[in-house]
Amino acid sequence: MLRIVAIALAAGTMASTGVLAQDVKVGVVLPLTGGLAPVGKQVQAGIKLYMDKNGATVAGKKIDLIIKDDAGVPDNSKRLAQELIVNDKVAIIGSGITPSAMAIGPLSTQGKTANVVTVSGTSGVINPNNPYMVRTSFTLGQQSGIIAEWAAKNGSKKVAIVQSDWAPGAEATAVFTDAFTKAGGQIVETIKVPLANPDFAPFLQRARDANPDTLFVFVPAGQAGTFAKQFAERGLDKAGIKLIGPGDIVDDNDLPGMGDAMLGVVTAGIYSVLHNSPTNKEYVAAFKKANGYRPNFISLGGYDGMHLIYEALKKTQGKTDGESLINAMKGMKWESPRGPISIDPDTRDIVQSIYIGKVEKVDGELYDVEFATFEAVKDPLKKK
Ligand code: PHB
Repeated sequence: MLRIVAIALAAGTMASTGVLAQDVKVGVVLPLTGGLAPVGKQVQAGIKLYMDKNGATVAGKKIDLIIKDDAGVPDNSKRLAQELIVNDKVAIIGSGITPSAMAIGPLSTQGKTANVVTVSGTSGVINPNNPYMVRTSFTLGQQSGIIAEWAAKNGSKKVAIVQSDWAPGAEATAVFTDAFTKAGGQIVETIKVPLANPDFAPFLQRARDANPDTLFVFVPAGQAGTFAKQFAERGLDKAGIKLIGPGDIVDDNDLPGMGDAMLGVVTAGIYSVLHNSPTNKEYVAAFKKANGYRPNFISLGGYDGMHLIYEALKKTQGKTDGESLINAMKGMKWESPRGPISIDPDTRDIVQSIYIGKVEKVDGELYDVEFATFEAVKDPLKKK
């Protein structure tokens, strides 16, 4: 008799919420179609790999993953996140690129829902007004100041900047310009290229006409291949202009098809598939086996985002309110395939190593070969 009552109660719980009480729903909004689809696909692959490796049960609860495609359009991101929070009652939301993360931020704040930002590289996305947000990706500032100082020390005097025209590009330019001019260099031209369907050729011509010794370029993941092709077609590699940037221009997903014009390109980035650690070797092998292509720096926001969620759930013993989860995430440290990373307990932003690397041919394929490391780099736009 007692048992029957217990079953009836459990069934009642199921009927009212539509899910088993033990499930933890994680809803992730990514661009899986549209111009930035390569970004969403890398994050999705990173998330799936983590779950395949670690199983779908954590702290006695089953993780129920729901991925939605916003096509990179922030109005879609907002609507989908609203549905995930209100209808699906997700315990945790994952957001992607900057405009999407900005659209979802206020919803996760209102709903007191933990929000793991897996792609955005814009500093202000993680801010005091949205206390349930945490970042597992990177910021453009983390990389751009370091490459500016490296360039100034290594003979660059006159730089032209080519920047994808949206928030992360503006930050790459601002941080680079500040550090490079402080180091005694000059910016001869700053050129903004539209984010959607970019044709780089006319902008590269303008950059060349400014007669720089070095080109600093930010394009988002997935556009490096097109950029490299047009860079070579315009003969900029032969004109003796050095190419530098944050890690996005040596996107590992695109590198194998980029051509020898990219040999010698130096970047400051968060990741190379050749990163020399047992953790990374295992990651790259498993990722390639599952997907048939290389993981890039973007994939890690998804992989490490899931790690952060799993470890936080272990710490809270399965409690999923935003406050408990975010408190558990603050200060968390672990070894990612990219190297050691942590969540700054004060800002909820990611702290990680930045690697200076150079494009070389290894076993007949192009790779970013890391040659210098800056440890525990914070987002410079948040440093007091
Ligand atoms: C971003 O959404 O801020 C973003 C996306 C792709 C990148 C860099 C930044 O490669």
